[in-house]
Amino acid sequence: MRPPFMPASTALPIWKIHTDILHTLRGGNRLVLVAPTGSGKTTQVPQMLLDAGIAGEKMIVVLQPRRVAARTVATRVAWERETRLGAEVGYQIRFDDHTSVGTRICFVTEGILLRWLQDDRSLSKIGAVVFDEFHERNLLSDVALALVKHLQQTQRPDLAMVVMSATLDAEPVAAYLDPCPILISEGQSFPVEVGYLSMPDQRPITVQAAEAVERILHDEDPGDILVFMPGRGEIQGTLDALRGLRTRERVACIPLHGELEPQEQDRAFAPNSLRKVIVATNVAETSITIDGIRHVVDSGIARVARYDAERGIGTLLLEPISRASADQRKGRAGRTAPGTCHRLWTVISHKDRDERNTPEIQRSDLAEVVLLLHSLGIREAASFDWLDKPDPQAVQRAERLLTMLGALLDADLTPIGHQMRRLPMHPRYSRMLIEASQRGCVADAALCAALVSGRDLLARLDRDDVSTQAAREMFEDSPDSDFITLMRAYDFAKANAFSFDRCRSYGINAQVARQVEQTFQQIMHAAQQIDSQSNSSRFREASRLVSEKSAGLPESAGDHPLSQKPVHGVTVLGGANLSSPKPNEALLRCLMAGFVDQLAKRRTPGKPECDLTDQRTGQLVRESVVTDAAYFVAANLRETPSRQTLLSLATAVQPAWIAEMFPQHLSTTLEHLFDAQNKRVAATRLVRYRDLVIEQKAQQRDLDPVASGRCLAEAHRAGAFDLPLMDHRLKQFIARVNLVHATLPELEFAPFDEAAITTSLARAFTGLTLVKEAQAAPLLPAFHQHLDKGQVSWLDELVPLTLPWSNGGPIKLSYVNDTPEAQVKLQDCFALISHPTLCEGRLPVTLSLHTPDGKRLASTTDWSKFQEREWPKHRQAVAKKFSGVLWR
Ligand code: CDP
Ligand code: MG
Repeated sequence: MRPPFMPASTALPIWKIHTDILHTLRGGNRLVLVAPTGSGKTTQVPQMLLDAGIAGEKMIVVLQPRRVAARTVATRVAWERETRLGAEVGYQIRFDDHTSVGTRICFVTEGILLRWLQDDRSLSKIGAVVFDEFHERNLLSDVALALVKHLQQTQRPDLAMVVMSATLDAEPVAAYLDPCPILISEGQSFPVEVGYLSMPDQRPITVQAAEAVERILHDEDPGDILVFMPGRGEIQGTLDALRGLRTRERVACIPLHGELEPQEQDRAFAPNSLRKVIVATNVAETSITIDGIRHVVDSGIARVARYDAERGIGTLLLEPISRASADQRKGRAGRTAPGTCHRLWTVISHKDRDERNTPEIQRSDLAEVVLLLHSLGIREAASFDWLDKPDPQAVQRAERLLTMLGALLDADLTPIGHQMRRLPMHPRYSRMLIEASQRGCVADAALCAALVSGRDLLARLDRDDVSTQAAREMFEDSPDSDFITLMRAYDFAKANAFSFDRCRSYGINAQVARQVEQTFQQIMHAAQQIDSQSNSSRFREASRLVSEKSAGLPESAGDHPLSQKPVHGVTVLGGANLSSPKPNEALLRCLMAGFVDQLAKRRTPGKPECDLTDQRTGQLVRESVVTDAAYFVAANLRETPSRQTLLSLATAVQPAWIAEMFPQHLSTTLEHLFDAQNKRVAATRLVRYRDLVIEQKAQQRDLDPVASGRCLAEAHRAGAFDLPLMDHRLKQFIARVNLVHATLPELEFAPFDEAAITTSLARAFTGLTLVKEAQAAPLLPAFHQHLDKGQVSWLDELVPLTLPWSNGGPIKLSYVNDTPEAQVKLQDCFALISHPTLCEGRLPVTLSLHTPDGKRLASTTDWSKFQEREWPKHRQAVAKKFSGVLWR
């Protein structure tokens, strides 16, 4: 029987457009439906489709962005249809399947539908897909929308799709799905009075929220209260703060978030004799409706998925909500009567908020999605038909990471990639777990993944805080990895039941440790999937180990590796029986597998400076325990304001492991390096991981004569040694060739630039290894080879080394100053009939005119002009000085 406070569902506003909905879907296969929260979209539309036979005999799938919503809504619809949950109406979310063969309406999270798509590309058992809460624009709902659209256009024109939302800007979606009608149902709502803070409040948001609740209670304005908080931790904090309330009225304080047990979630919906104060995540923003809410307290913040450049993964960051979200939250107070909304920010800062949320696809890490698309045969994620295109750089970054992790090879999914896809987590972690399942350390790898996926477990060390420092040193058990330190700190927190005080005195954030524990359990749960795929007995052993590990505290505290002794008034870790098993190589290898793209090579032993791939450089933070290892991977890369890269969370690795596990990224070359000390060429075999040299070995007997010659030539060019045989004659030769090239381009003389000179020297040095040999090697023949056959002999004609001259015989020409020049006696020139030229008459020789005492008077490239204009100026003085000569 229906409880009296629940309206008959056919009275819900959505029923007013019932006929339009069915009419549209009978005429086509697409519909965008916009109706205010509480109109009955989620609970009623799937039933309408079922009863009208829109999906035929097939199933109607309703996509829900949130697990809580999928479960509670399914429960509600099953109740409305008076069936058992899991029969006609069911739901499936990660780790929780309430469906059966007869299920016709199934509420699922997007990840589930995408998994189904992988198993059955045509979704043959599904007749309609309803995208609920589409305004949230989750990455996965965008992916699912694109895939279902694609399916309709190819194999499944009969598949119906409905996109629903309370706030959606319907036009772009309808245009993307064109042809696609839009139906809008105007709902009824009551005015909500909005209040802001009069000035910014620095106190914890949880305390502020509790105070706001107190004020509402004081006003004696009836109705339940809904408080929005970003997550579980803040919800707990608010509940704690609410316990200290000073009010006469007794209230029921109820948390609501996705990590609660089902029956705990149901408390929010159940009637209560006391006034309810529900503290919820943004699941209560639009996904689910709780009747009776008249007051909203809004923290104004939410956890938002973003790409975290520091860790190279997607992560959740605390951010201010958009104005559109704030309005939705406000609307929750005015559904059944006028209400109030208390915003915990100032009216001035309100306008600084974004107008609406950015689609996740445009801000998030795409590695997991790109992997998914590949597994569905879609190789071009960037050019895929998206509603909003992702940033091509983000796609590239994702593809690069997947390639580095070994999931993709030349844009094809590898067997490892296929395995990784089965694990619902970031590819870095799935790569680690795949490795771990083969090496028998799944539990440790899962713990490491959990440790790096949240906030910092250990507080930053304060130099003056001696006791925390001492505690930290006790955790620092191994110089192999900073993860070992974190694991020990986590073990300690767990052994102390995550006690806030105990943890704090050891510099551990207890709340983070608790979250690590939860994430760890989730990852372990997911990891069972690789177990069922692989027959590795070692994996099973690891699973057994972890179930012991997660079973709770060891029986006697003394047995625990981190048993404690009191020292200095506070307890620090005892040193004597610290016998935690040595981190084995297997775990280090797993960590390497997940962060191999962030491999670093120390420049100098013991120093923090290092090189990374792609010509990047960085510095390891001084807190790291990895102080000696020549190679390590860093799980965290942070750019400082001065554009330096700081590496942290390091794990020592061996180059041999890379060679073994990632051979596809290695290249081997034989390189000839100049050994300046011994003045010789050394042949070296270099192994590179991308551009980072990870192995270097002398290999003189494989020396390549040509490469060796080039190495000597390059060394000379860099100024490493002189060449006595680079003499005047050779320089003249080079200058003459360049002159012909410049003056008579049609003859196609190749000029000698720096590169050509080096090449010619390399030719001369072919087969040589010692500087001494290079200095003795004849050079000219090698330089001649620079020219085409025959060109050398033309040189004597075009740019001769001598010039025929009057009585004294030919005179020398010099080319080294880029112009041909001859020193002549001034008095001889008066016999010239014409000015001497080269290069078929195109290039006048520069005559340097000398008086009989050998002193230079002037230069000219045009003797007759000189004689006419300049000579008269000098004549008198010259004639007087050298009166023995007959001057004209
Ligand atoms: O999806 P939409 O926000 O349009 O509405 P809905 O979730 O289908 O809810 C329609 C109505 O059903 C709500 O106003 C509630 O009165 C009721 N409902 C409920 O009482 N308990 C639930 N678990 C779900 C809905
Ligand atoms: Mg809904």
